[in-house]
Amino acid sequence: MNKRIYMDHAATTPVDPEVLEVMIPLFTTEYGNPSSIHHWGQRSEYILHSSRETISKSLNCETDEIIFTSSGTESDNLALRGIALEAYHRNKNNHMIISSIEHPAIMNTAHDLKTKYGFELTILPVNQYGLVEPHDLANAIKENTILVSIMYANNEIGVIQPISKLSEITKASNILFHTDAVQAAGQLILDVKSLGVDLMSISGHKFYGPKGIGALYIKRNIPFRSTQTGGSQENGLRAGTENVPLIAGMAKALEISMSRYKDDTIKMTQLRNLLIDTILQEIPDCYITGHKKQRLPNNASFVFDNIDGNELIMNLDIYDIAASSGSACKIGNPEPSIVLQAIGLSSNLSLGSLRLSIGRNTNQDQVNYVITMLPKIISKMRGTP
Ligand SMILES: Cc1ncc(COP(=O)(O)O)c(C=O)c1O
Repeated sequence: MNKRIYMDHAATTPVDPEVLEVMIPLFTTEYGNPSSIHHWGQRSEYILHSSRETISKSLNCETDEIIFTSSGTESDNLALRGIALEAYHRNKNNHMIISSIEHPAIMNTAHDLKTKYGFELTILPVNQYGLVEPHDLANAIKENTILVSIMYANNEIGVIQPISKLSEITKASNILFHTDAVQAAGQLILDVKSLGVDLMSISGHKFYGPKGIGALYIKRNIPFRSTQTGGSQENGLRAGTENVPLIAGMAKALEISMSRYKDDTIKMTQLRNLLIDTILQEIPDCYITGHKKQRLPNNASFVFDNIDGNELIMNLDIYDIAASSGSACKIGNPEPSIVLQAIGLSSNLSLGSLRLSIGRNTNQDQVNYVITMLPKIISKMRGTP
């Protein structure tokens, strides 16, 4: 038995064996190009179409509103750039709004559009829990606003934004709304109609699908421009031969996640609460980050006074516990996380962060081991008895 304990499911998840089973023949025997006319091509085209159907059912949208991409990062890039380029071309409107706790895939793309292409950017503050206040969004909207992009759930602190409330505000002003649902997918309902969003990004490897595959929901008929030239795949919006094995794997993974999401939510919420409650009780000068209740079922995140987060991760690893400090992208980066700074924490506290993210296969014994070891590791690091 592998006694290592993986508590980093927000970084990535293992591929579900049923997903792998679906993918293998698509590499070896059913390898046709979906654009080819012959038998192999038709078979791939069929698999591509049924994968699109599966995903569109989970998102409650039409099949032609799903564009396959290579990752959550590409979906986020395509959403922002596709809307920005078309809007600017049409009427020179160029103002975008994002939140201050977006993933770098949104944050850096928005900054790129601002600094290299002259777009105007407003970055909304969040409150101490990481929540965007609806009145801040309402006040930030201007006549030339084209797009608001606010993530569904945060990768570091797990806070879930009130997306439908926020999108109502933009709808009243006819402004498009994108949500980065990369962390939410597989754990929260992805119904684009009840969320009221016009674009939504997801990524296969966060819900037990393969890495290197993502999707972008683009509502039919919204003004959008492709950012990549080449063939006419994906409605002409994302050129390049579709990665059929990974697409089929992602579709299967989403289907499985949706079918078991109620049971998984109950189980993970219980384990997550045990982690949070025990850690807060057992470790002095330790604080939860994000909202206590309005958070992803799998996310338990903290900051510890007088602790170096990266050193903590290395110490946990010695005891066979895989976790992360801030997000995976922050590894080796001594800068305090912008998310933790945005919720008002000092740089000092921000550097002592820990994210434990459980998965559908995490069990009580594993959680018990973590809550036994963590207080010991922290007091050893602090030099306290
Ligand atoms: C919220 C969020 N957005 C985007 C991404 C990027 O997704 P990908 O790893 O598929 O590029 C991640 C990955 O950690 C994420 O957590």
